[in-house]
Amino acid sequence: VIDIRKLYAQTGMFTYDPGFLSTAACQSAITYIDGDKGELLYRGYPIEQLAVNCDFLETCHLLLYGELPNAAQKQTFTETVTKHTMVNEQMQFFLRGFRRDAHPMAVLTGLVGGLSAFYHDSTDINNPEHREIAAIRLIAKMPTLVAMAYKYSIGQPFMYPKNSLSYAGNFTHMMFGTPCEEYKVNPVVEKALDRIFILHADHEQNASTSTVRLCGSSGTNPFAAIAAGVACLWGPAHGGANEACLNMLEHIQANGGIAKVGEFMEKVKDKSSGVKLMGFGHRVYKNYDPRAKLMQETCNQVLSELGLEKDPLLALAKQLEKIALEDDYFVQRKLYPNVDFYSGIVQRAIGIPVSLFTAVFALARTVGWIAQLNEMIGDPEYKIGRPRQLFTGTTKRDVKPLAQR
Ligand code: ACO
Repeated sequence: VIDIRKLYAQTGMFTYDPGFLSTAACQSAITYIDGDKGELLYRGYPIEQLAVNCDFLETCHLLLYGELPNAAQKQTFTETVTKHTMVNEQMQFFLRGFRRDAHPMAVLTGLVGGLSAFYHDSTDINNPEHREIAAIRLIAKMPTLVAMAYKYSIGQPFMYPKNSLSYAGNFTHMMFGTPCEEYKVNPVVEKALDRIFILHADHEQNASTSTVRLCGSSGTNPFAAIAAGVACLWGPAHGGANEACLNMLEHIQANGGIAKVGEFMEKVKDKSSGVKLMGFGHRVYKNYDPRAKLMQETCNQVLSELGLEKDPLLALAKQLEKIALEDDYFVQRKLYPNVDFYSGIVQRAIGIPVSLFTAVFALARTVGWIAQLNEMIGDPEYKIGRPRQLFTGTTKRDVKPLAQR
């Protein structure tokens, strides 16, 4: 690793690295990925162990404070988060300004940014107390905001959070409950969602996390920085891939189904078609994404518990994966399923509409964004992010008066 800053100071040399393929933009002690081995650690703990032994709020504690909580710390942290699950009543009037058919990620970007207009005691990013309360508020309120966006889109009344439920259970209550009857949380769905949240909680310097860091480096408030992360996550090459992947599976299903998988894969391999196998490939993983393995396991469990094991989209996904793992095009490029390949099938089985998939990802990633933001602000070497450029435009020329152009 070369510290380019020293070379820059000594020689004025700087590097050209579009897409940051070989440039570390920061030092971080939060999440470790070994892309060749397909290994993912949060604060040193393998994702496989966290997924089995911990719940999402324990994982949040780990990411934010560096250690898994003991029983007393867990209780305190859970109570603190739970206390903040409601949003200011005025938020619903803000929400009502959106069209009912607005994409949930458009709504969420607005609502999260809008939080800074409601919580003035937690907008100073340089004040640790403000950052702490902003962190708790964001983690607590994201499920409420996502569920509100959903309820609004289908014309149902908003459900207030129910603080006796678990984090994931409360989310299902706000999503699927109605004021007409008591909603019974399905433990299989609750567990599956909790696992989805853990698997998506952080992933080092991906596009949205880098966006949050860059945005926060200007000293803006934490809500604005997280809203920037939500906006970046929306893209189909990033968090939007779960929605794009499900749409792809539905498209194949509607156009001949499993019999047409081979034909579809030929199209993917023909670069001129512009078709990609969504949910496949990753900038860092050149091996199986460990989250995809866990997600596939959850997918099998959820579908079998819900009696949906014959879901044709699951069969399609498995067939696509089988072909890809044996095909030279994918093998040579080291393209494997990523976390989004199976997460859409799980979410759809749970009853979450496709357009909301990326918002669920944003809900889970919020803690990672905040942990990374806190780490950056706490770093004595932190400076405003300011990428340089290689200028390729026209050099100096004179403006001609309008009549002569
Ligand atoms: N389908 C077909 N070909 C692919 C795919 C794919 N999903 N992904 C990469 N390739 C090909 C590229 O065309 C390229 O081929 P070439 O070497 O012949 O030019 C090669 O594999 C390398 O791919 P790059 O695009 O250079 O890899 P990069 O690291 O820039 O992109 C990315 C990674 C964006 C994830 C890409 O694999 C992709 O678009 N995948 C589909 C979208 C997706 O699933 N995104 C979710 C990522 S995970 C997350 O954000 C949660």
